[in-house]
Amino acid sequence: MEKQSTGMDFIKDSLEEDSNFDPALRPLTFSDFTGQDRTVERLKVMVGAARDRGDVLGHILLSGPPGLGKTTLANILANEMQRDIKITSGPVVEKPGDLAGLLTNLDEGDVLFIDEIHRISKTVEEYLYSAMEDFKIDIMIDQGPNARSVRLNIPRFTVIGATTRVGMLSSPLRSRFTLQTRLNYYQKDYLIQIINRNCNLLQVEIDDGGADEIAGRARGTPRITNNLIHFVRDFAQQRADGKINKKVAQAALELLEIDSNGLDELDKKILLVMAENYNGGPVGLSTIAVAVGEESHTLEEVHEPYLIQEGFIMRTAQGRVLADKAWTSLGMQPHSGNPKQAELF
Ligand SMILES: Nc1ncnc2c1ncn2[C@@H]1O[C@H](COP(=O)(O)OP(=O)(O)OP(=O)(O)O)[C@@H](O)[C@H]1O
Ligand SMILES: [Mg+2]
Repeated sequence: MEKQSTGMDFIKDSLEEDSNFDPALRPLTFSDFTGQDRTVERLKVMVGAARDRGDVLGHILLSGPPGLGKTTLANILANEMQRDIKITSGPVVEKPGDLAGLLTNLDEGDVLFIDEIHRISKTVEEYLYSAMEDFKIDIMIDQGPNARSVRLNIPRFTVIGATTRVGMLSSPLRSRFTLQTRLNYYQKDYLIQIINRNCNLLQVEIDDGGADEIAGRARGTPRITNNLIHFVRDFAQQRADGKINKKVAQAALELLEIDSNGLDELDKKILLVMAENYNGGPVGLSTIAVAVGEESHTLEEVHEPYLIQEGFIMRTAQGRVLADKAWTSLGMQPHSGNPKQAELF
């Protein structure tokens, strides 16, 4: 039997892709981009200086959980530099020849965006070193006795790497980026600004209560925010007068079964396992990973940062510990290991 889709699936899918991807909503310049103040300030400094000198932008590594704006920022950077962007992804560049093909097609100052750069193969990575540092690449042509190495000069260019798992990058690769900067989950106020901007672009009327309701359930993530806006807009059109207020947003999000904290299924499972099996901790991340049946790096890169930021768990030298907020949301007494409202899960 087909599994019924729940609100949590909606959030999970939203983390993976923009199911309602609307190019009109993607910010194209720094001034359209809300939040991530530190990162944006750093990028503006680099772009301003490179433009003033007529120089090529330095290599930049953007890291952070899915859906926070890495791809968006890479496009903004190319746009602000008024240069082209070529987009590829770590697993796609399989052989050094693939990389050479990409590099020799660049013009001076172009941006090469490598998504999921942590998945690039070791051999390709070694070629990338000299390309990034000296704008040269040595490739082998022919095989056997005719094999020889040819040095290609490539135009000066900018690598923008994106990764959800910065820890998986080797230190020689990381050190070749002029700037490494991490995107964090968005505070509610910023999500509200994004919601107001996007509803304006979509020509949907929304009041403060409606925006507040959506922002509170978007897991600090603009991608989820955009997907929720699209659903709530449809709901408002079908079940109300087309305008989004608190009541309409609440009813729409209830229909999606989205948690009022924006937690997804795995977030909740992590909290529950920590409470029931480990009395709230301290417990090691790898132990939690085994208990919830997920790889520990996914917990560390995607789930834990949000749970920590929102005050559900704390990281201590002894391991992870549940905070009071988590016990409350589970409907349990701290350290009781006894769900009062087990039916919530
Ligand atoms: N600061 C922002 N302001 C407005 N919209 C944003 C912002 N950041 C991201 N978005 C929107 O959120 C969506 C997801 O952003 P993006 O694709 O850049 O995320 P990502 O970090 O590259 O995710 P992934 O790791 O999954 O590739 C996009 O549709 C974009 O329009
Ligand atoms: Mg992306």
